[in-house]
Amino acid sequence: MNKLFIFIALLGLVSCTSENKKATTMNDYQQIDIRALRDNPVKLISDDWMLITSGDSACFNTMTASWGGIGNLWNKPVAFIFVRPQRFTFEFTERNDYFTLSFFDESYREALNICGTKSGRDTDKVKEAGLTPLYTPNSVAFGEARIIIECRKIYGDFLNPAAFADTAIAEKIYPKADFHKMYVGEIVNVWRR
Ligand SMILES: Cc1cc2nc3c(=O)[nH]c(=O)nc-3n(C[C@H](O)[C@H](O)[C@H](O)COP(=O)(O)O)c2cc1C
Repeated sequence: MNKLFIFIALLGLVSCTSENKKATTMNDYQQIDIRALRDNPVKLISDDWMLITSGDSACFNTMTASWGGIGNLWNKPVAFIFVRPQRFTFEFTERNDYFTLSFFDESYREALNICGTKSGRDTDKVKEAGLTPLYTPNSVAFGEARIIIECRKIYGDFLNPAAFADTAIAEKIYPKADFHKMYVGEIVNVWRR
């Protein structure tokens, strides 16, 4: 009986540790339908934050984001993101047809802080953050992520200052008139660990 208890406890320990282990290939992930995502998308994006990554194995960049959404548009499951034009990541979202959204557990908060305060223009922030690039079929994500969403860019445009119904938002958020570009991406792949 005692031996059985120790065995079960060890099994629990092993499965706990392996959950936090980083993935080294996409095979370490389970591909799921977006509708099977149990996480609340508002919490995922606004509280947990995400990394928006765009590029390929030769050249990519990533940045932290907490504005955006996941939903349904033009009868497609979509994610929409907002990228200011001065971000280095902007050059990548402009040039590439795909981007990924990577979501992490709380232990990666500092990594997300680094990727949200430093620019890939002047630092190797991925290395500094201790993240491991992982190549998805069409883009790049990170092996430490617990959820990865891969999107195909289907629409993009800058927010229009004249279109703000609530002009106070435009004044408060964009004193330098650096309006975000909104990209809508069709969700083409979702992976979970
Ligand atoms: C919590 C958090 C959320 C952020 N959300 C966004 C966002 O939604 N859009 C954006 O353009 N920048 C956002 N940023 C700022 C960028 O992540 C930051 O400027 C980053 O250093 C840009 O890196 P890059 O120049 O390598 O692209 C956020 C930063 C943090 C810390």
